[in-house]
Amino acid sequence: MIIGLMGFGTIGAGVYELAKSRKDLTVRYVLDIREIGIPEWTTRAEDLFEDKEVDTVIEVMGGLHPAYEFVAAALKAGKNVVTANKYLVATYYDELTALAKEQDVAFRCTAAVGGGISWLTSLERVRRLEPVVALEGIMNGTTNYILTNMAKNGLSFETALSEAQALGYAEADPSADIDGLDVMHKLLLSANIAFDVSLDPKEIDVFGIRNITDDDVWTFKSRHLTCKLLARAFQKNGKTAVFVQPTLLSESALTASVPTNFNLITYDTAFTGKMSYYGQGAGRYPTAANVVQDCLDLLSGVTKFYADAADKVAVDNSVAKYQYYLRTTADTKALAAEKWGDGVLTKEMSVAEMAAFAEKAKAEDPRIFVAALKNEE
Ligand SMILES: NC(=O)c1ccc[n+]([C@@H]2O[C@H](COP(=O)([O-])OP(=O)(O)OC[C@H]3O[C@@H](n4cnc5c(N)ncnc54)[C@H](OP(=O)(O)O)[C@@H]3O)[C@@H](O)[C@H]2O)c1
Repeated sequence: MIIGLMGFGTIGAGVYELAKSRKDLTVRYVLDIREIGIPEWTTRAEDLFEDKEVDTVIEVMGGLHPAYEFVAAALKAGKNVVTANKYLVATYYDELTALAKEQDVAFRCTAAVGGGISWLTSLERVRRLEPVVALEGIMNGTTNYILTNMAKNGLSFETALSEAQALGYAEADPSADIDGLDVMHKLLLSANIAFDVSLDPKEIDVFGIRNITDDDVWTFKSRHLTCKLLARAFQKNGKTAVFVQPTLLSESALTASVPTNFNLITYDTAFTGKMSYYGQGAGRYPTAANVVQDCLDLLSGVTKFYADAADKVAVDNSVAKYQYYLRTTADTKALAAEKWGDGVLTKEMSVAEMAAFAEKAKAEDPRIFVAALKNEE
């Protein structure tokens, strides 16, 4: 395989190193804007597209632009594309999967969800035989690191976030992680593949952890509950529910015990039932290894994306119901069932109802925090 690699950052440098150790993978070009001091370096993306011998382009630059234009150009030039860029694939899902199909080339992004975990390839495999009923999990290591440290070591949100940044888990601008958008992109990709649908990211309800306080965490602890940022999607009676929310789990639940920056993702299927995948959700070598595994899959005959059909399906979060811990200065009288620390526990309400309430309340109280009390659907 002759590879054109785009991006020589954390993941790109790892991919380069792993590919160099193999006889069946040759990296011919490495595109980066910085001078990177390797013989394959180029700043001309066209070098990768114009070289007929390059059969596979790996995109690990990140961001939407010019990643989208470069990936589209690579597919149009008849190259297979492997990427770890969840933001890109979630945003241009229809365009890129259709283009790959039209060009009859492979388009793979296993490292985009779960970093080093072979989650998307496992979903691809299970859905051949049985319908996926639901998927759920911790899909972001940065927020799990923050929540674990707040609960176990009594750190404030700000200190836990600074530690995550110092360790390289969180970016300088951590918004995409702490506001749940990174998880939303991963959930969208997983749900699209699991359910054979194409979801609109704008329809997915997302609650983040930006506003969680140490007092909130104490309130949960005193009730033997642990807060985790969970992504969940399920199909029931023809409806598709898809949402991201801080969720209060019993301390003894498996998901509650996931430490530091690890991920735990589970699918639930018609025959197999629940199956969970646990491991490093980010980091140079786990993620780069998954990118290289995608290339090896191509060598062993994989020729397409993970799913074929992609019907536009509307998200309906009115079918997902929870009681919520709700802390806000906005009026909660109509929703409250009981007082919980600085907040209230609401009566059962749907994710859609809570999203509508929170959207309005945010105007008055930007520090509002909500967390769902886990139930079984
Ligand atoms: N880091 C992880 O653990 C992880 C895990 C899973 C998935 N991913 C995904 O993998 C992708 C790469 O992440 P990363 O952490 O490796 O990012 P990174 O360290 O910022 O690396 C990106 C590299 O691409 C270069 N670049 C950016 N724009 C470019 C352009 N227009 N032309 C040429 N080169 C360009 C950057 O150069 P400059 O530094 O000069 O900007 C940098 O060297 C992202 O989509 C990310 O979401 C990362």
